[in-house]
Amino acid sequence: MEARAIIAKLRAGAVVTVEEARWFGEALSGRVITDAQAGAFAMAVALKGMGPEARVGLTTGMRDSGDVLSWDLPGPVLDKHSTGGVGDPVSLILAPALAACGAYVPMISGRGLGHTGGTLDKLEAIPGYICEHGPKRLDHILREAGCAIVGATGRVAPSDKRLYAIRDVTATVESIDLITASILSKKLAAGLEGLVLDVKTGSGAFMPSLEASTELAQSLVDVANGAGCRTSALITDMSQPLASSAGNAVEVRAVMEALTVSGTQKRLREVTVTLGGVLLAQADLAQDVQEGAEKIAAAISSGAAAERFGRMVTAMGGPADFLERWNNILPEANIIMEVTPARPGFVAEIDTRALGESVVHLGGGRLVESDRIDHAVGLSGIARLGAKVDMKTPIATVHATNATKASRAVEAVRAAFKLGSTRPEPLPLIHSGVGI
Ligand code: URA
Repeated sequence: MEARAIIAKLRAGAVVTVEEARWFGEALSGRVITDAQAGAFAMAVALKGMGPEARVGLTTGMRDSGDVLSWDLPGPVLDKHSTGGVGDPVSLILAPALAACGAYVPMISGRGLGHTGGTLDKLEAIPGYICEHGPKRLDHILREAGCAIVGATGRVAPSDKRLYAIRDVTATVESIDLITASILSKKLAAGLEGLVLDVKTGSGAFMPSLEASTELAQSLVDVANGAGCRTSALITDMSQPLASSAGNAVEVRAVMEALTVSGTQKRLREVTVTLGGVLLAQADLAQDVQEGAEKIAAAISSGAAAERFGRMVTAMGGPADFLERWNNILPEANIIMEVTPARPGFVAEIDTRALGESVVHLGGGRLVESDRIDHAVGLSGIARLGAKVDMKTPIATVHATNATKASRAVEAVRAAFKLGSTRPEPLPLIHSGVGI
């Protein structure tokens, strides 16, 4: 095989074979392919596409460029992946709930990307929580807690690591072929038997339109199934944050509320329960999605999911009494400032991406790769679409390290809320499913 010939075919819009795509995907981790060739490949794919079969080849090649984990556990090995959103800590509830229902969840997660939050950044708000563990320790934690939310080691899908960095600087991130291969090469390297995808749509999603989100969901489902992992997807609403908080420690607080206080964080619970229901049914741990959803809901309301979460936190290096003392253990910001709206009315529209950006600027995300996260900062009490507010009703609360950052965030949050004189039609929380 030869990189130049494959790039030329792609540039001409010709079909590359599965074998060619697989070879390129695997070879991307080494010196056989130069940075210039990787950039030209990314641009040719972004402009001309590569077709469904070659997509499977690229994904499996990138998966096999590094370690592929395998397990010998007494239950199905399952996982969930979200395409990224704001105030979306579903993984922190779903992983332990699935574990409480008999599954094993080795969830390899990422850090914040752009305006979206990262699961690992949220968990590191818990003092002592260590995200990097080798395969042996991971196996031990999985047997102990049933779930382990960890970061990828450098040896998982190195081709994606390289191609992702090149895409970032060659304006080739927004390609469905490349996004599909990037997400799935890492997920499939975890040795999964089943996967459910939460594809976001709306103002806080990477793919804001329902049409683009549906196309991405279909691509992810087809390629994952084509690579031998049973997979389905839900398209869920990200036209407002899912939890009432966005940030790191503030989202862990929302998770602990959802796990321990009934009737709270309803939207967050609904998405969690539905995704879990789909996954349990797909893995034959429930007869159908409805029964699966009931099992996940019962695992949350009985406290079984909270107990698993506590076990995981301890096994990952966090406090042994986190479940009892989370409210005291999680860090709090110095400055807490309420945001009141510019005028009274109904919350008609939320620029969710702007809320995510304001969390990043508070220090809850990174502007450059080397930035250190401030886990205590963020937003809480975020008003819902359709809420009736007056000038004394806060639409959010800002948690900041200093008054200057707090005032800037107050202005940004205020500007992100559009108020109307009539209550807007509610949007569906779950738009549709793919492969269910
Ligand atoms: N997340 C990834 O891991 N890769 C992409 O290309 C986009 C989102």
